Amino acid sequence: MSDGRTIIGIDIGGTKIATGVVCGTRVLERVLLPTPADRPKEEVLHQVFASVDLILERTGHHIEEIDGIGVVAPGPLDPRTGKVLYSPNIPALRDIPLARLMRERYGRPVLVENDANAAGLAEALFGAGAGYAHVFYVTVSTGIGTGVILGGKIYGGRTGMAVEAGHVTIDYEGPLCNCGHRGCIEAFASGTAITRRTKEKLRQARAPSHLLDLVAGDLEAITPIVVGEAAQGGDPLALEIVEETARFLSIWLGGMINIFDPDIIILGGGVSQWGDLLFPRLRQLTPTYSILPRAAEVAIVPARLEADVGILGAAALFATP
Ligand code: BGC
Repeated sequence: MSDGRTIIGIDIGGTKIATGVVCGTRVLERVLLPTPADRPKEEVLHQVFASVDLILERTGHHIEEIDGIGVVAPGPLDPRTGKVLYSPNIPALRDIPLARLMRERYGRPVLVENDANAAGLAEALFGAGAGYAHVFYVTVSTGIGTGVILGGKIYGGRTGMAVEAGHVTIDYEGPLCNCGHRGCIEAFASGTAITRRTKEKLRQARAPSHLLDLVAGDLEAITPIVVGEAAQGGDPLALEIVEETARFLSIWLGGMINIFDPDIIILGGGVSQWGDLLFPRLRQLTPTYSILPRAAEVAIVPARLEADVGILGAAALFATP
């Protein structure tokens, strides 16, 4: 939805930087480079530049042919100045005037936005949310990111830094979140939290779990995807993790419905791959945690643009609704 223009979309994530050249809603070419997340910020920046240089080289585009560069990263970040302030899960992303540095180097228009806001925008414009006026987007991955898209526009609140709903607490005595607060939904139900909870349960388990067979006894190899596989196979411990996660998310989503009353909730990220293990349960439980009498009408669906959503979201920043 970059209106036929050629845009470079960059998604800075905790483990990788995904960069693509986007024309319309098509990703023409992608480059994946590792994020040096624990290194000084200059190295992250260097890697972002390297990814742009590499994609230009691969596609044979000259920088003058690029109409804009969109960059997304976990927040909080300031989309108005294009500055990344800090990120709970990527220590290196701190105080980086990304838009200015990118403009200085490439001389093209640059837009910077929170990763989940941008992914939500792409889903709302041409993904699972197309045609809906009020979209609540959630990505459950390393962290929990959220975006609210109203009438095809990101709702940014007073400073442009809303909606950081992954850091809404559901239990003030809950586990410590990387943001420094306790009991955020991210600390209960993000991919990282699911892995942590699974390992805890496995350590305490009395009966053997099929999960351990799937990872050949190596607890470090546990991921939400493996949990999903074990749950599919009927493993009781994995099923318990899925059920608890569904309940945590529903408690929180019920609250989100109270606040935003969206038409649709779109769930993306690795955990959305739990598919039928998760979605029917979310649809059943979520309305029970909302006070709105018509909460059950809110559609809860998987995201559609999964693999490329970061790149497409970054490019969608240039869309003019
Ligand atoms: C950050 C969000 C981000 C999410 C997913 C959270 O920890 O606070 O800004 O969208 O992770 O990357």
